[in-house]
Amino acid sequence: MKRKIKVSTLQKAITKEHNKGKSVGFVPTMGALHEGHMSLIKMAREQCDVVVCSIFVNPTQFNEKSDLKKYPRTLKQDMAMLIEEGTDYLFHPSVDEIYPDGEDISVEIDLNGLDRQMEGAFRPGHFEGVVQVVHRLLDIVKPDKLFMGQKDFQQFTIIQNMIDQLKMPVDLVVCPIMREEDGLAMSSRNRRLDPDIRKKAGILNKSLKWIKKNMDELTPAQASKEAINKMTIPGFKPEYVTIINGKTLKPIRSFESHDYVVVCTAVWAGEVRLIDNLILKK
Ligand code: PAJ
Repeated sequence: MKRKIKVSTLQKAITKEHNKGKSVGFVPTMGALHEGHMSLIKMAREQCDVVVCSIFVNPTQFNEKSDLKKYPRTLKQDMAMLIEEGTDYLFHPSVDEIYPDGEDISVEIDLNGLDRQMEGAFRPGHFEGVVQVVHRLLDIVKPDKLFMGQKDFQQFTIIQNMIDQLKMPVDLVVCPIMREEDGLAMSSRNRRLDPDIRKKAGILNKSLKWIKKNMDELTPAQASKEAINKMTIPGFKPEYVTIINGKTLKPIRSFESHDYVVVCTAVWAGEVRLIDNLILKK
C-alpha cells in the first residue's frame, strides 16, 4: 500500500492509474477503522481495479470541539487493516492540505431541507462540513466509484444529492450496515462505551427491529413512541426515533402512502451518541 500525504503526489499517482485504463474506487473515512469500514474496502476491491482510502478527521463537521478532540486516532492499526484488505493507496492528509489558507473550497448547493432534520437538527453545521470535505476529497481523488455506508443514512442521501446537483462524474455505492453479534451497529465511537452500557447497547437495533415486526398494526407516530420507550433504560437517552421517506428524509404520517420507508435513531448511551437505522420498506 502506498501512503500519500500530499494532494499533488496522490493526484499524480491516480492520473497514472487512470491513464492505464484502471477504474478507481474511493472509501473516505475518519479512521479508527473497524469491520464496517473494511466492508466498504472489500466492496471497492470487488468493483474497481484500484482502491483508495482516505483517513482524515474532518474538523469542519464536528459541532463540538470536545468531540473532535476525543475522536479516536489509531493510524498504525488502521494501516495494518488496510494492507491486509489489499488497499492500494492511503491518503492521510493534514488539515492544511485539505483546507489550504486563502483557497475558497465552500460548496454551494441547495439541500432542500435534507440537512435540517434528524442529525441536522441536533448537530448544526455538521452536514455542511461533510459536504465540504467529501466534495474536496472527490475533487482530489476523482474516483469512478465512491463507497459509503448505509449506517449514515442521512449522510449518503445528502452526498447523492450533491453528486446529482453538481453532476459530478462518480457513482455512489451504498454498502449495508455491519453489526456486532448483539445487533449494535459497528462504529468508531463504540470503543468509548462504558462496559455496562455496551452490554445493553443491543437495545437500539432490537427496538428498530420491533418496529419492523409490528408496523402493520401501528402508525409511524405510535411506532416511534413505543421504540423510544423501549430504549429509555438506565444509562440510555434516545434523542429521536424518526420514521421517514427514504428519498426526501421527511417524517411520514402513514406507512401505506410511501414505498420507501426508513426508521432512523440517535441515542445517548452514557456519554456516547450512537446512531442507527433500519429500512422498513423498499
Ligand atoms: P466514518 O465515520 O469514519 O465512516 C466512514 C464510512 O464508513 C461512512 O461511509 C460510514 O457510513 C461507513 N460505516 C461506518 N460504520 C459502518 C458500519 N457499521 N457498516 C457499514 N459502513 C459503515 O462518515 C464519515 O467517516 C465521515 O463523515 C466522512 C464521510 C469520511 C467525511 O468526513
